[in-house]
Amino acid sequence: MARFTLPRDLYHGKGSLEALKTLEGKRAMICVGGGSMKKFGFLDRAAAYLKEAGMEVAFVEGIEPDPSVETVMKGAEAMQQFQPDWIVAMGGGSPIDAAKAMWIKYEYPETTFEDMCKVFGLPKLRRKAKFCAIPSTSGTATEVTAFSIITDYTKGIKYPIADFEITPDVAIVDPDLAETMPKKLVAHTGMDAMTHSVEAYVSTANCDYTDPLAMHSICMIQRDLVNSYNGDMDARASMHNAQCLAGMAFTNALLGIVHSMAHKTGAAFADLGAHIIHGAANAMYLPKVIAYNAKNETAAKRYAEIADRMGLGGCTVEEKVANLIAALRKMSDELNIPHCIRAYGADSYPCEQGFVPEDVFLARLPEIAKNAIADACTGSNPRQPNQEEMEKLLKCCYYDTEVDF
Ligand SMILES: NC(=O)c1ccc[n+]([C@@H]2O[C@H](COP(=O)([O-])OP(=O)(O)OC[C@H]3O[C@@H](n4cnc5c(N)ncnc54)[C@H](O)[C@@H]3O)[C@@H](O)[C@H]2O)c1
Ligand SMILES: [Zn+2]
Repeated sequence: MARFTLPRDLYHGKGSLEALKTLEGKRAMICVGGGSMKKFGFLDRAAAYLKEAGMEVAFVEGIEPDPSVETVMKGAEAMQQFQPDWIVAMGGGSPIDAAKAMWIKYEYPETTFEDMCKVFGLPKLRRKAKFCAIPSTSGTATEVTAFSIITDYTKGIKYPIADFEITPDVAIVDPDLAETMPKKLVAHTGMDAMTHSVEAYVSTANCDYTDPLAMHSICMIQRDLVNSYNGDMDARASMHNAQCLAGMAFTNALLGIVHSMAHKTGAAFADLGAHIIHGAANAMYLPKVIAYNAKNETAAKRYAEIADRMGLGGCTVEEKVANLIAALRKMSDELNIPHCIRAYGADSYPCEQGFVPEDVFLARLPEIAKNAIADACTGSNPRQPNQEEMEKLLKCCYYDTEVDF
C-alpha cells in the first residue's frame, strides 16, 4: 500500500495571503525568520488578517537560516505559554521547518529531538493546534511536505524529520511574497526545486500520482528559473507554483542521495565560516548523482524521459542522460552557481579556491560519506552506494571530476 498526502487546502495566486481571514480559531502564533517578512509588510498584513478572523496573535520571531535544535526548543516554550490553536509559519524553508518541529514539541512536551528524528514515527498531532504554512522562497516547498530539516550544530549535521503528521493543514502560495527575493536566493531555491523534481521522478518510490507533478514542474523550472533570476516577475510567480508542485511530488515519492549529500555537507564546514547553501549543494551534486544513478537501467530510462520532455535531443539513452547533465550544468552557469565544492566561495559564488580546503575536505570525507549513507533520503535512491562509492562520489563533487563507476 502506498500513501499520497497533501495539505487539506491550498490557496494560490497573487493576494492569496488574504485566505488567512478564513482560518477559524482563538489564538494564532506566527513564526517568522530574521526580518524580511516584517520589512516588506507581510507580517503586519498576516497579523491583521488573523485578527480580522477574530484571533489573538503572538509571534516567534528571528528564526535563523538552517535552524538549530535550541531554536526549536525555545519556540516550543513560547507556544506552551501562549497555547495557540493555529501555528502560522511564514518565510523561507528555515522558519517553516523550525515551526513544524516546535509544533511537535508543543503537542508532546516530553518529546526529545532524537524522538522527532525517527522516520515516520511521530504520534498524532493536531490535538492542540493546526498548521498553516506560507512560503516566501521558491524552493523547499515545505508548505506541502512531510519534512522538516533541523541542524544539530554540536554534530554539524542536518537531520530530516519525516512524517505525514507534519504535512501542513493549509498552504498559502502567494507569489507576492517571492518578489522581494534577492537574485542569489532565487538561484539557490530554484535549483533546490529542480533537484526535488528530478530526484522524485527517479526515486524508487515514484508512482503514477507523483510522476506528472515531478515532470510538469521540471518543465516549468526549465522555462522560468533563469528568467525569474533575471528579474521577470511573471516567471517568478510561475516558479512559486513550480516549486510547490515539485514538493507535492517529492513529499510522496521521496528523494535521493543528492539530498543525503547536501544534508551532510551543508553544515560540515560551518567552523570554517560558511555553510554550503542547500540549493547550491544540490545544484553541484545533481549532475554527478545522475551520472552515478544512470548505471542503473531503470533510472537511466527515466532520466532519458526527462531529457525528452525538456526537448534536449539525443538518440540513445546515454546521449539523453549526457544532455540532461549538460543542461543542468548550463543552468548553474546562468545562475552563477559553482560546479564543485572546491570552487565554492564563502559567498556561494564560483572562485579559484573555495572556503573548504582540500586537506580539510579529505580528512572529513569518511565521516561525511558515512553520514550521507545513513541519511533518510538514501533509501529511495535508485542505487545504494557503499562507503567506497559514496566517498568517490563526494570526491567528484569536490573536484568536479567525471563519475565513471
Ligand atoms: N522541509 C523540506 O521539505 C525542505 C526541503 C528542502 C530544504 N529544506 C531546508 O530549508 C532551508 C532552506 O530554506 P530556504 O532556501 O527557503 O531559505 P531560508 O529560509 O534559510 O532563508 C534564507 C534567507 O532568505 C531570506 N528571505 C526569505 N524569503 C525572502 C524574501 N521573500 N525576500 C527577501 N529575503 C527573503 C531569509 O530572511 C534568510 O535570510 C534549509 O535548512 C534546508 O535544509 C527543507
Ligand atoms: Zn531540498
